[in-house]
Amino acid sequence: MSGRTFLQIPGPSIVPERVIRAMSQPLIDHRGPQFAVLLREVLEGLKKLFQTAQGKILLFPGSGTGGWESCIVNTLSPGDQVLGCVNGHFSDLYCRTATSHGVNVQRLEVDYGAGVPASAIEERLRLDKERQIKAVLVVQTETSTGVTSSLPAVRDAIDAAAHPALLLADVVSSLGCTELRFDEWRLDVALTAAQKGLMLPPGMAVLAVSERALEANRSAKCARSFWDWKAVLESNANGNFPYTPATSLLLGLNESLKMLFEEGLDNVFLRHARLAEACRRAVEATGLKLFAQNAAEYSNTLTAVAMTEGLDSDAFIDHTLKLVDLPLGKGLGKVKGKLFRIGHLGSLNELELLGILAGIEMALKSFGLNVPLGAGLAAAETYLLETAMRRSPL
Ligand SMILES: Cc1ncc(COP(=O)(O)O)c(C=O)c1O
Repeated sequence: MSGRTFLQIPGPSIVPERVIRAMSQPLIDHRGPQFAVLLREVLEGLKKLFQTAQGKILLFPGSGTGGWESCIVNTLSPGDQVLGCVNGHFSDLYCRTATSHGVNVQRLEVDYGAGVPASAIEERLRLDKERQIKAVLVVQTETSTGVTSSLPAVRDAIDAAAHPALLLADVVSSLGCTELRFDEWRLDVALTAAQKGLMLPPGMAVLAVSERALEANRSAKCARSFWDWKAVLESNANGNFPYTPATSLLLGLNESLKMLFEEGLDNVFLRHARLAEACRRAVEATGLKLFAQNAAEYSNTLTAVAMTEGLDSDAFIDHTLKLVDLPLGKGLGKVKGKLFRIGHLGSLNELELLGILAGIEMALKSFGLNVPLGAGLAAAETYLLETAMRRSPL
């Protein structure tokens, strides 16, 4: 197909030209002085993005799944209890990662489509009189449902129960799309991956870790080698890694961080919020339903759209790809075949969003749904016009 390639799955997101160019630079020696400068810049930039002055940053070749494992094995021991909030496919897998390392996960099951209820977390923690629960596992944006939970509310719940549990947050699909204040919200781990708000190809896990998490690391007994934080922190202090790092991705990351700071983090979050709202208005004007249940929990990263009863969303996604070469996200796990997901994260502007929405309308119509062509687009255009000169979404 000629023209721009679309990839509207909720990550990997589109890699901007500037990042592609940065990654295609000739490789540098990962033990040399140039690399030490690159690493210092990247670590500084990430601290700014996570909004942490106190925390340490850790980078690993890998993906978000590796980030989960690194978080679990470095802070916990087999037999430890944790409270795991499960409100979708990824939070389920996060908890399963802990279980597979012998950690005892008390699952707080929540409806897919809802955010994690801070009051229920507080209640569970209050019941833990012996203070056995070592950590609370929570996913900020559940990418399988398009729901963003409030991390400050989870922090408040832990505080209200006066509980010492660590707060271990998955911010894989929210970092760089939605506000995150690592220090202010006193997160202990926030883990992410390269291919979402950081606008890179897949291949890297990134973690911010608190002093308390580092303290837990010193006594955590889960077996670890590659994912161990200690060796990485020691090598990073000398400007290198204990193994061959993903040098090209680090060159790309340095560029994508520059792009985020040039735009300004507040503007980046507002752009995401505004495009997300335009997308939701288009979906609703088309007559379809959002999968996320509560407006306060709508995600900036993606919109999950409930498929019309009796129709298979996987078949619709295949149809959209054939019709307009537009890949959308499928329903995962329990919601397979029941929803489709529109990614609007990373490098995206309003005209691109309108093109995406037009493609979806055409696909819905030709898939046999009785959608009024242009209704969704008009709703999105109206909203984008209304907010064109404003810095914040209505
Ligand atoms: C919220 C969330 N956590 C974890 C993951 C797993 O990351 P990865 O596929 O990079 O291993 C994903 C993947 O989409 C995700 O969306």
